[in-house]
Amino acid sequence: MIQKQLRNFVIISHVDHGKSTLADRFLELTGTIEKRKMQPQFLDMMPLEREKGITIKMQPVRMLYTQNAIPYTLNLIDTPGHIDFSYEVSRSLAAVEGAILLVDATQGIQAQTISNLELARKQNLVIIPVINKIDSPNARIEATKDEISSYLKINKNEILEISAKNGTNVKELLTDLIKKVPPPTTELKKPFRALIFDSKYDSYKGVIAYIRVFDGEIKSGDDVYLMAAKIKGKIKEVGYFKPNLSQLKELKSGEIGYIATGIKEIDKVKVGDTIVDFQSKVEPLIGYKEPKPVVFASLYSQNPENFPLFKNALLKLKLNDASLTFESEDKEILGRGFKCGFLGSLHLEITTERLKREFGLDLIISTPSSVYKIIDENGKVILISSPGQWPDQSKIKEVLEPWAKLEIMTPINFFGNILNLIKSLEGKFIKTKYFGKDKALLIYETPLREIIIDFYDKLKSQTQGFGSMDYKILDYRPADLVKLEILIAGRKEEIFSRIVSKKSVFSVGKKIVKKLKEVLPAQLFAVPLQAVVSGKIIARETIKAKKKDVIAPLYGGDYTRKRKLLEKQKKGKKELKEKGIVNIPQRVYLEILKSD
Ligand code: GTP
Repeated sequence: MIQKQLRNFVIISHVDHGKSTLADRFLELTGTIEKRKMQPQFLDMMPLEREKGITIKMQPVRMLYTQNAIPYTLNLIDTPGHIDFSYEVSRSLAAVEGAILLVDATQGIQAQTISNLELARKQNLVIIPVINKIDSPNARIEATKDEISSYLKINKNEILEISAKNGTNVKELLTDLIKKVPPPTTELKKPFRALIFDSKYDSYKGVIAYIRVFDGEIKSGDDVYLMAAKIKGKIKEVGYFKPNLSQLKELKSGEIGYIATGIKEIDKVKVGDTIVDFQSKVEPLIGYKEPKPVVFASLYSQNPENFPLFKNALLKLKLNDASLTFESEDKEILGRGFKCGFLGSLHLEITTERLKREFGLDLIISTPSSVYKIIDENGKVILISSPGQWPDQSKIKEVLEPWAKLEIMTPINFFGNILNLIKSLEGKFIKTKYFGKDKALLIYETPLREIIIDFYDKLKSQTQGFGSMDYKILDYRPADLVKLEILIAGRKEEIFSRIVSKKSVFSVGKKIVKKLKEVLPAQLFAVPLQAVVSGKIIARETIKAKKKDVIAPLYGGDYTRKRKLLEKQKKGKKELKEKGIVNIPQRVYLEILKSD
């Protein structure tokens, strides 16, 4: 391959603006996928992606394309659009020279269009702005052009109009791309050096690292060294993405491909690491900032015996999802589990679904929590990411919680709905910016805990899907929070505990005990359900005792026997009550945790 004829690029956009569909047209046009094998959103290769209609993983693919008798090699990386998977986008950007910025003509610029564009600009990528879905009767081509040209400060005629669905102007886009995106700068003579931008596990080949080669070349049998992990490997295979892994003789400077490292220590290999020739002494490449999880939840296997399997599953999944974090944790009733960190609630949902499908694990998930800083009576700062770690309220001097800058993009006709929605948040309004004639960007500051669980869904339903949001963590600010505990028959059930604002603690407490009353089966004795804050009961319900008719089998008969049986029952009840043992089926845990 002639490196001058190489182009590496990504497609970035807001969620659903048509990245994977455009990739389909590229795959067809370049003959990468045979027509009979083609299916919509081909690069969404995970069944979960196809079912949900969203891209979760970045997916690289190499395409060969001849233009004016010159053969080009085009490496495309399709990226996800949802905010929870933005770490996938930022990692792909470090492997390429150009980005197609796709904007849906029926929606115009959205919150993630801007955030992904800013990421691409930081990497100094050549940006190719493109308007998609021009075939749609709802396309607002001119208005979208206005928005893009004013935001990018470019001329309107620099924006290409395409239909990824019909293929209109897709060929022209490829021509433009070859012209505008520069080939990678190559250093063929230098010792091998590459960046790991993604990875996965293969039981035969060990860790497979997805790499962008910056210097030199690599082939099967070479010894390599991972600079941050400080481990050696012997390359078993190198290759490219077709998009399935296809073997090659070697990978050279400027190229994107994979290497089977032979490394089995899955916890050592990290994205962002620099992989080099074992002998050479070179500087590591600029890696990635580790993403900071913002949502934490405890995960337990429904079958506690699955713990080793569960741990292995998380290690393997982490190879393929670098933004996932986890540490082990013990809970009496639920056995050993893991406290996991996620980039948002969709990330949590997708992760638990992947654990189920890819590893056969059925999980119990605690209420997700944000991260809090507690300053204790001695002025010591403690970081807390689950209610179980919350100290005694009397020992707390101050609580700080993360705040986020929330940006909501909305058509002006939904402005009222959005204002109503954000009124329900704690926080403060900063400003409104107008985009084109009929769009506004509302900027708001709010505690992170208010927007990480289901705010995105509420926003979508209030704006018929047209609103979009993005957020960035600002800083930690003082918070009025308390730990709400739930007692069942006098026994604290930590998994139901949660951290809530003082303002809402009564309503939340009431809601939980009421729900528990509905779902917890009656026992042989009355079971009090209490919501407690700092030892004070703030809500209470009681499940009446189940009456077991112990004397039913006795017909007529002897009064003393009846009395004896009744007394025995009373004693048994008393014993159970004294021990406070309530059998809580796991189903109840799930019902309560799901009922938010
Ligand atoms: P994420 O990766 O999840 O962010 O989505 P995406 O950007 O890859 O979008 P995708 O290609 O999955 O397309 C989203 C929806 O838009 C699908 O229903 C497509 O059929 C539709 N779509 C994509 N391109 C066009 C187009 O040119 N015209 C029309 N009318 N619909 C399109």
